[in-house]
Amino acid sequence: MKKITIAIDGFSSTGKSTVAKQLAKHLGYVYVDTGAMYRAVTYYAMQKGFINKAGFDTEALINDLPKITISFKFSESKGFAEVYLNNENVEKQIRTLQVSSFVSQVAAVSQVRKKLVEQQQNMGKDKGVVMDGRDIGTVVFPDAELKLFMTASAETRAQRRYDELIERGDKIEYVEVLKNVQDRDYIDSNRKDSPLVKADEAIEFDNSNMTLTEQFDEILKLVERTMKRF
Ligand code: DC
Repeated sequence: MKKITIAIDGFSSTGKSTVAKQLAKHLGYVYVDTGAMYRAVTYYAMQKGFINKAGFDTEALINDLPKITISFKFSESKGFAEVYLNNENVEKQIRTLQVSSFVSQVAAVSQVRKKLVEQQQNMGKDKGVVMDGRDIGTVVFPDAELKLFMTASAETRAQRRYDELIERGDKIEYVEVLKNVQDRDYIDSNRKDSPLVKADEAIEFDNSNMTLTEQFDEILKLVERTMKRF
């Protein structure tokens, strides 16, 4: 069967990556977590001191962009590709609330977006890819055969994220996580370059009241229907 491109966009913590990983595994497709790429650049900027209490030195990060290499390597034990920053596995470091609280500012920098979008387009050029993010159906792959736009209430999303962080052992309050989710929604939707918007043809998917199995089954039906059309 002909390979297609599946673009999954939506607000933070809507379960995009969970369903994207399930689909990629089921279809034998490549999964690309584009949020992890923006997070890795943010982690780099924090390590270098470009983001600190005084603010965010955007110029310093832009100057350093040629020194930043982001790559993915498949982890047999995890069952998905983990993200590497200049050959260091940063999968754990990029999931902290600290990185989450700066990533939207870094993702609003056009030069950062240009670099990462080019890499994403390259990774998906042969199709057979499931990519999740904020601008996949609108900017990265406007011709994707299937576009999904995931939503769920901010409270539902914050609770999911809070449960994940607690499970990893982070000490955190639910209200902090909720604020982070709401702040990121705002910045991601209102930035000038490639704001988070639903592509016209994207199918909206509210999973507030769905189990993971129900969600996967519904989306797989959409995928199979789309594959028959191409
Ligand atoms: O999917 P995530 O929560 O890991 O994404 C982290 C941040 O990266 C998100 O707040 C916005 C930004 N992002 C983006 O601007 N464009 C993408 N394609 C993916 C993520």
